Amino acid sequence: MVTLTTTTVILVFLGVGWGLQLGPVRLVDNKRYISYNLGPSSNNSLLECPYELDEAKNEEIQKISWSLSGRYGKEEVEGFYEWSPSDGVKATGALEGAVNLHRQDGNLELTELRYNLGGFYNCSATLTNGEAQSTARWEALVIETSPNVISINTEIKECSTINTIKANAVYPEPTVHGGLYSPSLSGYYNEITSDQWLKVVYQNLSVAYSVNKREFKIDEDTPYDVYFLFTLGVTKTNGDYISLFSTTGTDLMMSSRGCPALTRKEYQKETYSTDGTKNCRNEYIKSFDNPKVTVTCQEGYHSDGELSSLELTCDLETFTWKDEDGKESNYDLRCVLDSNHDHGNDGGSITVTTSTTLLVMATTLLLCLLQL
Ligand SMILES: *[C@@H]1O[C@H](CO)[C@@H](O)[C@H](O)[C@H]1NC(C)=O
Ligand SMILES: *[C@@H]1O[C@H](CO)[C@@H](O)[C@H](O)[C@H]1NC(C)=O
Ligand SMILES: *[C@@H]1O[C@H](CO)[C@@H](O)[C@H](O)[C@H]1NC(C)=O
Repeated sequence: MVTLTTTTVILVFLGVGWGLQLGPVRLVDNKRYISYNLGPSSNNSLLECPYELDEAKNEEIQKISWSLSGRYGKEEVEGFYEWSPSDGVKATGALEGAVNLHRQDGNLELTELRYNLGGFYNCSATLTNGEAQSTARWEALVIETSPNVISINTEIKECSTINTIKANAVYPEPTVHGGLYSPSLSGYYNEITSDQWLKVVYQNLSVAYSVNKREFKIDEDTPYDVYFLFTLGVTKTNGDYISLFSTTGTDLMMSSRGCPALTRKEYQKETYSTDGTKNCRNEYIKSFDNPKVTVTCQEGYHSDGELSSLELTCDLETFTWKDEDGKESNYDLRCVLDSNHDHGNDGGSITVTTSTTLLVMATTLLLCLLQL
C-alpha cells in the first residue's frame, strides 16, 4: 500500500500522463435510475460516458460507442450507438430510433422510453492515435410507478395494529418490506412474509403487491424501539437497492414503557396501587401518579427484619422500582412463618432441603451428560 502511494507521487512529479481516462458509465446528475414517469429528456434519460484526455499529448476523440445488453436477463448485445465527429452517428438494434442523434458529446440520450431500454450499458472511446478504452457494463433501470402508488390503512385494536397495504403497479418488480421494525435488532421484529403478500403480475410485467388486515401484536416480548415501517424499491441485478418509497408510523402503544411486575419472592405478596393501568407489555404505567407497590408477607408469615412491609415506587426514567430513599430495592422482607405454626415450619424446611437436593442431583446429571 505504502509502496503504491509512493510510486503514484513520483509519477505525478515526473509529469507522466495516464493517457485516456474513461468511465464509469453514469446517468446525468448521478441519478439512480431513468424515470419512465418523467418521460425522455436530457435531465432524465441521459447516459454519460465520462472521459478525460491527456492534455500533454494532444489527443482527440475519434469515436465513442455504446452497447446495450442484458435486457430481460439475456447476455447478448442488442442495441448499438456510435458517435464520431468525423464519421457521423448511427444507432442500431434496440437503440434504433430511440437516441438523440444531434448531440455533440458522444453521450447517449434516450428520446423514447420503453421498459426494454432498461439494461446494461457500456461505452468505449477511441482516439485518433488509435488508443482505446472501454468501461464495464452498468445497469440503468427504466422504472415506472403508478400514480398514488402506495396506500396504507392502520386500525388500532387493543394491543394490536391491523394494517392494510396496497402498492400499485411498479416496473420492474419491486422489493417490498413491511412490519414492525426495530433499530436495535437492525431488522424487522415482525415482518409481513413473502407468502402473506398478494402479488399481481400485469401483462406488461409490472407488479403490484398488497396485504389485507395483517395484525401486529404488542406484548411483553416486543422490543421497546419498534415502529411500523414500509419500504418499496427496486433491486438491481448486482443487489444494489434503489429506494422509491418509505413510510413510518408510530403509535404510543408501541413505545409505552413502565415497570414490569415484581417477580414474586417466596412468602411475599405484592399489592399494586394502579391495578388495571398497564400497557400492552403488561407493565405498570402512570395514571395520575407514579405506580406504587406494597410488598408484605403472605398470610401466616411475618417479616423477620425491622420493616413489616415495603412501599416501592416506579421510577419512570429508569423503569425500576425504588424505595423511599430513591434506591433500587431488592424488596426482600425475609418472611418467616408465624410462631404458632411451628410444626409447619419444619415441614417447610424439609421441602426446601429436598428440592435443593433434587436440584443438585439434576445439575450433576446435566454435567455428566455434557461430558458425554
Ligand atoms: C432540466 O432541468 C432544468 C432545471 O433543473 C430545467 O430548467 C430544464 O427545462 C430541464 N430540461 C428539460 C429538457 O427538461
Ligand atoms: C460492451 O460489452 C460487451 C460485452 O462485454 C462487448 O461485447 C461490447 O463490445 C462492449 N461495447 C462497447 C461499446 O464497449
Ligand atoms: C403497465 O401496466 C400497469 C397495470 O396495468 C399500468 O398501470 C401501466 O400504465 C402500464 N405501463 C405501461 C408502460 O404499459
